[in-house]
Amino acid sequence: MGDADRIAKVGILGSGIMGAGLAEVAARAGYDVVVRSRSRAAATAMVESIDRALTKAVERGKATEEERKEILARITATDHLGALADCDLVIESVVEDLAVKQALFAELEQIVKPTGILATNTSTLPVVELAMVTQRPDQVVGIHFFNPAPAMKLVEVIRPITASDATIATALEFAKSCGKDAVEVADRAGFIVNALLFPYLNNAIRLWEQGTATMEDIDTAMRGGCNFPMGPFALLDLVGLDTSLAILDALYAEFRDPNYAAMPTLRRKVAAGQLGRKTKRGFYEY
Ligand SMILES: NC(=O)c1ccc[n+]([C@@H]2O[C@H](COP(=O)([O-])OP(=O)(O)OC[C@H]3O[C@@H](n4cnc5c(N)ncnc54)[C@H](O)[C@@H]3O)[C@@H](O)[C@H]2O)c1
Repeated sequence: MGDADRIAKVGILGSGIMGAGLAEVAARAGYDVVVRSRSRAAATAMVESIDRALTKAVERGKATEEERKEILARITATDHLGALADCDLVIESVVEDLAVKQALFAELEQIVKPTGILATNTSTLPVVELAMVTQRPDQVVGIHFFNPAPAMKLVEVIRPITASDATIATALEFAKSCGKDAVEVADRAGFIVNALLFPYLNNAIRLWEQGTATMEDIDTAMRGGCNFPMGPFALLDLVGLDTSLAILDALYAEFRDPNYAAMPTLRRKVAAGQLGRKTKRGFYEY
């Protein structure tokens, strides 16, 4: 049986888009949270960004001023990995690079107390390859949140073949305690959501490359015809074309399914630095 009650303190590694969201989610759920970034300035900036998000929530009547203060009081920012020693759960959310994550897991193994669960927020990487650099592969799991973490309802709990049932159950209970819908998934590239979403996005590019319809009309069709909140090209630009390409490459490397073979336009746009909204130009201009 899992036991989310035994989790009191949660460590978050990485202060990017996802790290900040994860810290907010865990602190809102009542956990003590330590966020660790390589620089103290980045960790402090992250807490400030959480404060801004909470202030907006108060303005919109979604939280009280009292709650804002309580949530912030639960979050500590640090640049010191040793501050994670007494965490019951650590969620790593740094750059999507296996070597970087493996080096961090090897360090965490030395630092975090033996009963601590070590989790990764990876979108595509094999969780077992992180488990195997530790001496506690049974306590390593994927806990995959979606962007933006405070708003998105889903968490995929990834079960590497090394994980114990108790670890998986605790991860599922932790996600539920954060108010999320949790699903359990085997440790395969793309898990559920990205494995199903990315062939669709890739095939939208194929349809456009074949001259079947314009980008605008494909987006209009999928919004109006499937009730999707946004069309595939708008979504690719939002996710980031570099991230999208990395996900497709990981899926193709694992399954060799032609639907996962990234379309040439996607690869060329990434080569040209047209990465979507973040560079103000992707499939659309912003
Ligand atoms: N962006 C998304 O939509 C999304 C959604 C779900 C999961 N994820 C996953 O979350 C993780 C983080 O993604 P993100 O979007 O927050 O990225 P980001 O680029 O916003 O942040 C990356 C973080 O990693 C840190 N970092 C970079 N190199 C490092 C190194 N060598 N050592 C330690 N830290 C380093 C950076 O300082 C930064 O804090 C990735 O594994 C990604 O696949 C992303």
